[in-house]
Amino acid sequence: MRVLCIETSCDETAAAVVRDGRQILSSVVASQVDLHAHYGGVVPELASRCHLEAITPVIAEALERAATPLAAIEGVAVTRGPGLVGALLVGVAAAKAIAYARQLPLIGVHHIEGHILAVQLEQEVAFPYLALAVSGGHTHLYRVDGIGRYQTLGRTIDDAAGEAFDKVAKLMGLPYPGGALIDRLARDGDPRAIPLPRPLLHRDNLDFSFSGMKTAVLNYLKQHPEAAAGDRRNDLAASFQAAMVEILVAKTLRAAAAHGLERLVVAGGVACNSGLRAGLAAAASQAGLTLAIPSPPLCADNAAMLGVAGAAYLSAGLAAPLDLNAVAAWPLDTAGLFPAAV
Ligand code: KG4
Ligand code: ZN
Repeated sequence: MRVLCIETSCDETAAAVVRDGRQILSSVVASQVDLHAHYGGVVPELASRCHLEAITPVIAEALERAATPLAAIEGVAVTRGPGLVGALLVGVAAAKAIAYARQLPLIGVHHIEGHILAVQLEQEVAFPYLALAVSGGHTHLYRVDGIGRYQTLGRTIDDAAGEAFDKVAKLMGLPYPGGALIDRLARDGDPRAIPLPRPLLHRDNLDFSFSGMKTAVLNYLKQHPEAAAGDRRNDLAASFQAAMVEILVAKTLRAAAAHGLERLVVAGGVACNSGLRAGLAAAASQAGLTLAIPSPPLCADNAAMLGVAGAAYLSAGLAAPLDLNAVAAWPLDTAGLFPAAV
């Protein structure tokens, strides 16, 4: 079964063709990052307009690279939410138009559902597992009992991890989105050079709070303006990243222990972070847990990640009506299309 997948939830216009929910035949991502970098963050109206211009050529390229004519596509999976509603609507409208014109079943997939199942495109991970979803909009711990069966165990009570990376990067004078740039600077810095807080680290719960990290870095920079440049900038990046990694690793391990889960999956753009990958690998190995993290292109926003849930739902005969609408806010717990008892 070849599924055409479409993702436009934020600032990447993406389309992919995925076979049988396992094999990526093509994955095309047109990034708007350069456009938004100009404004220091994603401008929703500009994102929608850019998606509109890019969506048709991106889908055409995905089909061409997969050597798959539309006639050979058996279903369409699209990110229905959460995200910027104007951006989501472009992908949803394109998916509905193709589904209507070609009489194909349509499936609306949750963006984070896509992220946490992306790993299945590269390796088999048995259910149940603990998923840490870390992106620009999410920092959530989920129990995943199967495709379509998700339970939130913990979440950020304010900023998402990616948001914290981007805000701190901005304070350090780095362009948007700065997460990857902090990662690069941190490689040549001393993670113990600058003392930064670890909010909620020792609280006996599975929630995160990252808004204080930005304030701590802001206060530090006010007292030490020299840390925004030169070697001290590397130290600041490394110290900030070390704090983020310590918190994310500790809460993930705590969640796995509390819920008796032996397999960990990490997903979303922040899962590209080299410090987080290394920190989790060390902690998982010490705790005797299995760790699976997709390769970086599958961690960042892409359309292929929708192919896993898309194929499963379509194979089960599920299809969304053609009045499917985009949803800006949508808890993952209610998004899975398979009931908990299945
Ligand atoms: O999943 P994603 O591509 O889009 C959303 O769904 O939000 O995640 C984007 C986020 C941004 O905040 C970006 O700065 C962050 O992921 N990011 C990183 C790295 N690469 C991307 N953060 C830290 N280290 C990285 N290497
Ligand atoms: Zn994402």
